[in-house]
Amino acid sequence: MADLMLGIETSCDDTGVAIVRPDGTVVSAAVASQVELHDRYGGVYPEMASRAHVDAILPTVRKVLDDAGLTPADLTAIGVTRGPGLIGSLVVGTNTALGLGDGWGLPVYGVNHLRGHLRSADLDERRVEYPAMVLLVSGGHTLLAHVEESGDVTLVGSTRDDSVGEAYDKVARMLGLGYPGGPAIDRLAKTGTADVPFPRPAKDLDLDFSFSGLKSSVSRFLAANPDHPPEDVAASFVAACLDVLLTKCRKALERHPSRCLVVVGGVAASPQLRAGAQELCESAGVTLCLPPLRWSTDNGAMIGLAAWDYVERGLDARPKPDTSLTIADW
Ligand code: KG4
Ligand code: ZN
Repeated sequence: MADLMLGIETSCDDTGVAIVRPDGTVVSAAVASQVELHDRYGGVYPEMASRAHVDAILPTVRKVLDDAGLTPADLTAIGVTRGPGLIGSLVVGTNTALGLGDGWGLPVYGVNHLRGHLRSADLDERRVEYPAMVLLVSGGHTLLAHVEESGDVTLVGSTRDDSVGEAYDKVARMLGLGYPGGPAIDRLAKTGTADVPFPRPAKDLDLDFSFSGLKSSVSRFLAANPDHPPEDVAASFVAACLDVLLTKCRKALERHPSRCLVVVGGVAASPQLRAGAQELCESAGVTLCLPPLRWSTDNGAMIGLAAWDYVERGLDARPKPDTSLTIADW
C-alpha cells in the first residue's frame, strides 16, 4: 500500500495523529485530548502539556496504525508540526517523529501548523478552489490570508493582540464555564439575547483585528452588572466577535478577488460563525469552504495532508521546532 502519510500534531494541548492520503482521504485518526488536565487550571499549562504529550504520543501512533490494520512498513513518510506553538510541546512531537523516521527508515517533514489548518478544509473531500480567502481563527491565531493555487500566501490581516479563541476562553472563564471556553460559550449564547452593546473592536484597523479591548469590556460589564443573565452576556460577546470577523471578511473579499472563503481553526467549529459565514458568502457570491467539525480543532490529519504539499513541492523542511513561523512560511 503506497502513499500513506503519518501526520503528527503536538503544538498545543492535543496529541493528534492520523494517516492521510495525498487526496485528503483520512485512513485513520486519533486525538488524545488534555482538556481534563487543563480544565483544572482554566487554560493550557505549557509544562504539563509537554509531559502529557510524552505519555500520549506513542500509544496514539500505535492506535492509528492498529485501527487501520497497518504496520510502519506500509507508511511513505511522516509529517510533524514544527511550529508555531508551545516550544516544549513541539519538541516532543518533532523528536518523536525524528526517532520514528530513523527507526522505520522514513523521511520526516516539518510542517507549518498554520498551513495544516489551511489544508484542513480539503480533508475527506476536496473543497477549496483558488484563489481563496482564508479566515484562520484559533486559540493561537486570528488572521486573514489570500492563498493562490501555487501555495503562495499573502497575509492581509492579523490580530494586533489576542486571538479570538483566546477571547472566547477568557470570557468563558469569567462566566465560570471551564476550559476550552469556545464550545461552552456557544451553547450558552444560543439560549440568550444579545442585549449588551459591547464595542466592535478594531473597527478602524482596516483588515487587522484586536480582541483584548472586547475582553476587558466584558470583564468591566460583569463587575458592574453581576446579576445580568450570563446567557445574554455570552450572546452579546459572540455577536460582537462575529460582527468584527465577518465585516473584515467581507472587506477582504471585496479587495482580493477570491473563488471561496475558507474558515478554519478551532473557532471555525462555532455554529454561529458557520451560519454567519454562510450568509456572507451567499451575498458575496463566493463558495464557503469549511472543514468537517472534527478537523476544525487541532488534529494530525491536517498536518498529514499539509505534509503532502511539502513532498509535492520537493521542499526539504527539516522538523526543527520554530515558534516564529507565519502563515506565509513553509
Ligand atoms: O485550532 P485550535 O484547536 O488550537 C489552536 O491552534 O489554537 O483552536 C482552539 C480554540 C480554543 O480557543 C477554543 O475555545 C476554540 O478554538 N473553539 C471554539 C469551539 N471549539 C473550539 N470556539 C468557538 N466555538 C467552538 N465550538
Ligand atoms: Zn491550531
